[in-house]
Amino acid sequence: MGLKEQQNCLSQRKIIVYMILALTPIALFRLCFNNPFSTIDDNSLLDSTAHVVITNYSSSSSSSSHEEEEAQESFDHIKNEALCDYTEGKWIRDEIGPLYNGSTCGTIKEGQNCFRHGRPDSGYLYWKWKPNQCDIPRFDANRFLDLMKNKHLAFVGDSMARNQLESLVCLLSTVSIPDLIYRNGEDNKFRKWRFESHNVTVSVYWSPFLVAGEEKSGNLDHNVLQLDRVNEKWGNDLESIDTVVVSVGHWFLHPAVYYESGSVLGCHSCEASNCTEIGFYDIFRKAIRTTLKAVAGNRREVILTTFSPSHFEGRPWDSLGACNMTEPYEGKVLEGLDLDMRRIEMEEFKAAKAEAAGEVRLEALDVTAMSVLRPDGHPGPYMYAFPFKNGVPERVHNDCLHWCLPGPVDTWNEIMIEVLRRWRV
Ligand SMILES: *[C@@H]1O[C@H](CO)[C@@H](O)[C@H](O)[C@H]1NC(C)=O
Ligand SMILES: *[C@@H]1O[C@H](CO)[C@@H](O)[C@H](O)[C@H]1NC(C)=O
Ligand SMILES: *[C@@H]1O[C@H](CO)[C@@H](O)[C@H](O)[C@H]1NC(C)=O
Ligand SMILES: *[C@@H]1O[C@H](CO)[C@@H](O)[C@H](O)[C@H]1NC(C)=O
Repeated sequence: MGLKEQQNCLSQRKIIVYMILALTPIALFRLCFNNPFSTIDDNSLLDSTAHVVITNYSSSSSSSSHEEEEAQESFDHIKNEALCDYTEGKWIRDEIGPLYNGSTCGTIKEGQNCFRHGRPDSGYLYWKWKPNQCDIPRFDANRFLDLMKNKHLAFVGDSMARNQLESLVCLLSTVSIPDLIYRNGEDNKFRKWRFESHNVTVSVYWSPFLVAGEEKSGNLDHNVLQLDRVNEKWGNDLESIDTVVVSVGHWFLHPAVYYESGSVLGCHSCEASNCTEIGFYDIFRKAIRTTLKAVAGNRREVILTTFSPSHFEGRPWDSLGACNMTEPYEGKVLEGLDLDMRRIEMEEFKAAKAEAAGEVRLEALDVTAMSVLRPDGHPGPYMYAFPFKNGVPERVHNDCLHWCLPGPVDTWNEIMIEVLRRWRV
């Protein structure tokens, strides 16, 4: 079945689909991932990227060094074992605050630079994740750069991968100024930095499905996924990558036609007769499986960042007050999409790990549960600069999906450093 036919299969119902889209959370994702952000000119960010200002404070000279040593000790205690179960815990107050800010780091996407966009509260910056069983040391940029010395770490995925990448580049920039050595694609989809001081390369590859295929565009109103092989845009570079950090999920909710080994498996959000609706959960599973297999097959290290929850919580994305919380939740269990997407990832991760039998380094960065407790960490209306400068409108666009930088994602990278540390002991 050719591409044309699939287009037909959707175009019949195009108008209905669009109406549905306008009314469902899928619309939120569509809008959040595409329309509003594509209007932001990332070129303006490029210049500042090359001259990232180094902040003065480093973790070792801060007043909390004693506390950090203790935290270090408690993590060292379990060295050579699996990481402690850091997924269970709570967010506790942290007076020190982030290592970088929206004016010291030049690589933060405008819509996630909440401080620069006039977000008035700053309390969301002063929390740290406290697992029940251990402590997470504050991010130590030098340690990270030492751990990745002469190596290349690549983020592969969607805009959540970019969110985590930008956090990492900002954190590392506090001790070493990177050179942006490669940039390609609309909206900074492909970038590569070199930290000369340690010969470390950090890059990002846009690949929201991980597997091969085609994203919807002008004349294609749905995505096409080829589930049996990874996207060559990053797959072809695997040889030169040491550590792959995978982060995807939300794009799988979009309308799509799925292929495997040349034949159609089915569709999602496609109601035409020739396309059987098969949902996206099994497809998501296959995409993760194909990816882990490819990376492990190339004997690369792989870190799977689990699904990042949004906090629209049933409200329309343009409603005033969506995700306007200023503090973390204290108790909220995973449910629905968040629960299911994470479960699929963890099952595939465990299966891949068993298959690799210790021969390939493979770890999950299980951030879903800790992140669902951070409704306060999203840009909300501050995805646009100073949204209330002309008074409070009835409707305002909110980003309750990505995370402010600095913000909760910095914690993900603090945990990632512990993963690397265990691998390099
Ligand atoms: C950001 O960090 C720089 C360097 O530490 C500092 O001079 C500046 O005041 C900070 N800005 C804000 C808004 O905190
Ligand atoms: C820098 O790292 C790359 C791998 O990322 C390696 O091929 C190269 O030899 C390293 N250069 C030096 C000077 O160690
Ligand atoms: C459905 O598929 C069959 C066989 O592949 C094809 O002949 C037919 O034209 C298709 N119908 C539509 C409406 O696309
Ligand atoms: C959040 O928005 C709702 C609805 O506009 C409002 O009632 C509430 O006071 C807001 N909360 C904060 C903390 O701004």
